[in-house]
Amino acid sequence: MLADVVLLLLLLLLSRRGCSPADAPDFAAHFGSKTRYEDSAAHRRMLLLSPPPSSPPELLDDRSCSPMHLTAVVRHGSRYPTAKNIRAIRKLSHLMASSRGAGPDGDVDGDVAGDAARWRDVLRRWDMWYTDDMDGQLAAKGREDLRSLASRLARAFPTLLGEESLRGDGGDGGGGLRVLTSSKRRCVASAEAFQEGLHRQANVSTPVSYRQRVDDGLLRFFDHCRAYVERVEKNSTALREVHKFRDGPEMAALTRKASRKLGLPDGHLTPDLLEAAFYLCSYELAVKSLHSPWCFLFDRHDAKVLEYKCDLKLFWKRAHGHAINLLASCPLFHHIFRTLDKAGRPRRSTEPAAEPASILVGHAETLLPLLGLLGLYKDESPPTADNFRSQQGRLFRSSLLVPYAANVVLVLLDCPRGPRLRLLVNETPVRFPGLPDQDAPLYRDVRAAYRHLLDGCDFRQACEGGGGGGRPPNTEL
Ligand SMILES: *[C@@H]1O[C@H](CO)[C@@H](O)[C@H](O)[C@H]1NC(C)=O
Ligand SMILES: *[C@@H]1O[C@H](CO)[C@@H](O)[C@H](O)[C@H]1NC(C)=O
Repeated sequence: MLADVVLLLLLLLLSRRGCSPADAPDFAAHFGSKTRYEDSAAHRRMLLLSPPPSSPPELLDDRSCSPMHLTAVVRHGSRYPTAKNIRAIRKLSHLMASSRGAGPDGDVDGDVAGDAARWRDVLRRWDMWYTDDMDGQLAAKGREDLRSLASRLARAFPTLLGEESLRGDGGDGGGGLRVLTSSKRRCVASAEAFQEGLHRQANVSTPVSYRQRVDDGLLRFFDHCRAYVERVEKNSTALREVHKFRDGPEMAALTRKASRKLGLPDGHLTPDLLEAAFYLCSYELAVKSLHSPWCFLFDRHDAKVLEYKCDLKLFWKRAHGHAINLLASCPLFHHIFRTLDKAGRPRRSTEPAAEPASILVGHAETLLPLLGLLGLYKDESPPTADNFRSQQGRLFRSSLLVPYAANVVLVLLDCPRGPRLRLLVNETPVRFPGLPDQDAPLYRDVRAAYRHLLDGCDFRQACEGGGGGGRPPNTEL
C-alpha cells in the first residue's frame, strides 16, 4: 500500500520532469565495485572493448589447438550491503526522517521548494528494510550471477567444465574440477552457485555434490600479510588521496547540489552520507532489481565522480598504489602458475589425466592485486585527488574490472608447438602486457615474461621481513 503511494508519487515526479521510469538508472555502469556484471558488460560493449554477447569470443584462433586446462579466479556475485554499509544507510534514512527542509515548510513556495519537499517526502517514506544480519551475504541475484557465468564458461569450454569434470573427485589426483573459496559466506555460496551452473549446463540430473574447500591463505591473502596490514590497512596516510578527494571541490559540489535538490540546510548532508545514498541506489538495483528513488539524487556526471572516488580507494588500497598491495597476492600468483605448470606438463598415458579446471572464488580484493601483478590496467600517471578531469580515459576503472561476479580466466591450450595461454578478463580476451602482439602466446613465453615474479615475489620476505623499512622488490614488468 505504502509502496503504491511512493510509486505513484515517483511517477508523478517523473512525468513532471519528462523522463520515463527505466529499469535501471542510466549511470548503472558507474557503481564501481558495486556494479552489476551485466551493466559492466554492456558498458564495455559500448566502449567497443568486447564483442557483442551473441558472438562467443573466438577463443581458439588456431583450430589445431584444444583447451587442456582452465583456471578461473572469480569474485562473489551481487551481495547485500555489509553491516558497515547498513549503518551508513540507517544514518541516511534517519537524516531524511528528521529533515524539515531549509525553511519552515509553509513559508516557501515556487517550483523548486515544492519539488524539494516532494523529494524529501518520497525519501522519508522509503522503507529501511535492510537488517544487520544481511551483512554482506550473497543475494539471490548473486547466486544467479555465478550460475549463469558458470553456464557460459561451460558452453565455451565443454571439455573442461562439462559432465566429466563434475564426475572426477576434485583435486587430489582424480581428474575432476577443483574449487577453492574464501571463507566468507558470500564466497562459499558463490562457489556453490558456480557448481550449480555447471550442473545445469551439463544437464546432470543428480543433485549437486558440492566440492569446494576453504583456503583463506590463497584467497584472503591480504589478511595474512602483516606488512600490508600495517603499512596500508591501518595507515590512513596510505589513503590520503581518497580523503583529499572526499574533502575536495568535486564532492563538495555534489553534496551542495543534492542538498539543494532536497531543500536541506547546508552541512546536513555530508559527502559520506551522499556516498551512502549512491550505494543505496546500487544495492536496490543489484539486490532487488529496483530503480530506487535514491537514484534520483544523481546524474551521470555525479556517478562518474563517485565512481572515481571508488577507483581512488581501490587503486591506493588494493592495486598499483602501493607495491605491497600487489606483493601480498604472491601466493595466489604462484599457485596459479604451479597449477598451469602441472596441467601443461607432458604426461604418459598411464598417468592420471590433468586437472581440467581450477575455480578460485574470492573478492574484488583478491582479483585486483592479481591483475596488478600481471601488469594490467596500469595508467601512465596514478589517479590522485587533483586529476579527476585528466583521468577520464583511465584504464583502471573498477566498474569495468571488478563488478559483481568479475572473473579472470586463464586457459591453457594444447597446440602443435607446445602449450599456449589465453587470458580473459570478464570473458573478454586480453593480451599479456609483456607479449602485446599475441592473443595466445606460448606458455613458456608467458613464463619468461613473468620470470622475475616466478623466481621472486616472496610473500614471506615482502610481508614479514623488513619491518616496514626495507624496500619491496620491483614488481614492474
Ligand atoms: C536434459 O535432461 C532431460 C532429462 O534427462 C532431457 O529430457 C533433455 O533432453 C536434456 N537436455 C539436453 C539439452 O541434453
Ligand atoms: C603510511 O603510508 C605512508 C604513505 O604511503 C608511508 O610513507 C608511511 O611509511 C606508512 N607508515 C607505516 C607505519 O607504514
